[in-house]
Amino acid sequence: MNIPETEATKRSELVEEFVRDHKEMSQLLMEVITHLKAKDVAAARSVAQELDRVAGPHIQYEEGDLYPRVSGRAIESEYTRSLYHEHLEAVTSLKLLLCKDELSEEEVVAVLRGLRNGLKHAEQCGSLVNLLSALPEVAQRESLVFLRECRDRGRLWTDLIR
Ligand SMILES: [Fe+2]
Repeated sequence: MNIPETEATKRSELVEEFVRDHKEMSQLLMEVITHLKAKDVAAARSVAQELDRVAGPHIQYEEGDLYPRVSGRAIESEYTRSLYHEHLEAVTSLKLLLCKDELSEEEVVAVLRGLRNGLKHAEQCGSLVNLLSALPEVAQRESLVFLRECRDRGRLWTDLIR
């Protein structure tokens, strides 16, 4: 049965964009992992470049807006500290894949591990969408403005490492 969408059940633009970004990032992560498992480093790199471009603005948004909201007043909480750390682990692997000419077997294994953990993170982090959709409308709009600003800046994920 098709239930008609009412204002109350309609997903906000922020939620739509958040979900879309997460889907795209997870798909790209899976593609990179698949190529690496097949030992096709060149193909993995080319998808990794796309991931770097797509994830940059979204990660900047999460770290600059979403995670501080999750933490309440503090910039970091115990919980978000691990989320920031997981981003760092994934992007360090991405950087290794993109920046080093020849990868040893051990490095490929390390990159794979980091990206698989990144995929796990994306699932967990994606569940924060419930928190976003529970925010008052004004806060959601504010958050969406910041997400769009991050897109306009267009930073690469690998350029965000502190
Ligand atoms: Fe995240």
